[in-house]
Amino acid sequence: MVVDSLSEVSHRILDWFSVNARVLPWRNPPGEPLPLDDADWPYRVWLSEVMLQQTTVAAVKAYFQAFTRRWPSVRDLAAAPDGDVMAAWAGLGYYARARNMLACARIVADSGFPSDEAELRALPGIGDYTAAAIASIAFGQRAVVVDGNVERVIARLFAVETPMPAAKPRLKELAAELTPDERAGDYAQGMMDLGATICTPRNPACGICPVNNLCKGRTEAERFPIKPPKAAKPARKGVAWWIEQGDQVMLVRRPDKGLLGGMLALPSCDWKGGNETPPVSANWRRVGDVAHVFTHFSLSLEILSGSLKTGCTLPPGAQWWPKDRIAEAGLPTLFAKAAALVMSAEEDRL
Ligand code: ADE
Repeated sequence: MVVDSLSEVSHRILDWFSVNARVLPWRNPPGEPLPLDDADWPYRVWLSEVMLQQTTVAAVKAYFQAFTRRWPSVRDLAAAPDGDVMAAWAGLGYYARARNMLACARIVADSGFPSDEAELRALPGIGDYTAAAIASIAFGQRAVVVDGNVERVIARLFAVETPMPAAKPRLKELAAELTPDERAGDYAQGMMDLGATICTPRNPACGICPVNNLCKGRTEAERFPIKPPKAAKPARKGVAWWIEQGDQVMLVRRPDKGLLGGMLALPSCDWKGGNETPPVSANWRRVGDVAHVFTHFSLSLEILSGSLKTGCTLPPGAQWWPKDRIAEAGLPTLFAKAAALVMSAEEDRL
């Protein structure tokens, strides 16, 4: 995108935000000068951002109001007993956040919040995102604010093809190019609101987006940001035994807990590379392999077939099933594949 279009994007976001900003208890109306005479303004911005770190806007509203009514300034919060603050935080989760918040309040209680991003970042519980958000929203500094919403908006605007999370540094670079010198706080909140209300993860409302005709990803917005490649599934191996006695085959019921719990199956090893001792002795013949992909691993199962030697003790829970009605046993797919393999191999041998 050329420089003119970059500033066109930020202008449009600011204009859109001026009219469409969500009304939230920690905001002043967009475009209005910061209430610099109000010493509690950075406190309110900081408190909202800390609460919003892992919690939704909807859930934070009531907590924010309760906190600021009870502790109107950072000094009040710093002076509060730990137990009171932790109790008031209950329900927001992530208690380490509450402890960091209180530690931070006690550090800045006398001096006030620093306006410098790096100094903010040095405080407990304030990372890159929160430092940039406070510097821009509370102090009007130009700071590059990047959260998940902003990443999504930018990945779409520039149709960034690099998958996440590898795309993060590039998205940050692009965010820096877009961030205006003036009204950086309104701009940051405009990007967040755009991401939360229009440029949503699913079904984005591109038709009413203020930057739709500048958006390179518009026709396929939901594809961006590109999801990370799926991690390769671990490959496991195992053995299952097709044990015949006359016209019947041995099935076992799997334990209730665990994979394919409670289902009928061929006897098999645990697929963890451990014990592959057959449950009975027989003259084993290798039939072939069946492959199956489970949610968390793929399995290659070697199928051995044999006829039960007389006098063998049967494994617990074993039952006999007519081979020609094996399709009716309701075997899970993996074992149905094994049964089909054995039956077709038998037909070939006849
Ligand atoms: N999410 C985190 N901080 C926010 C803010 N200031 N406005 C809107 N959404 C947010």
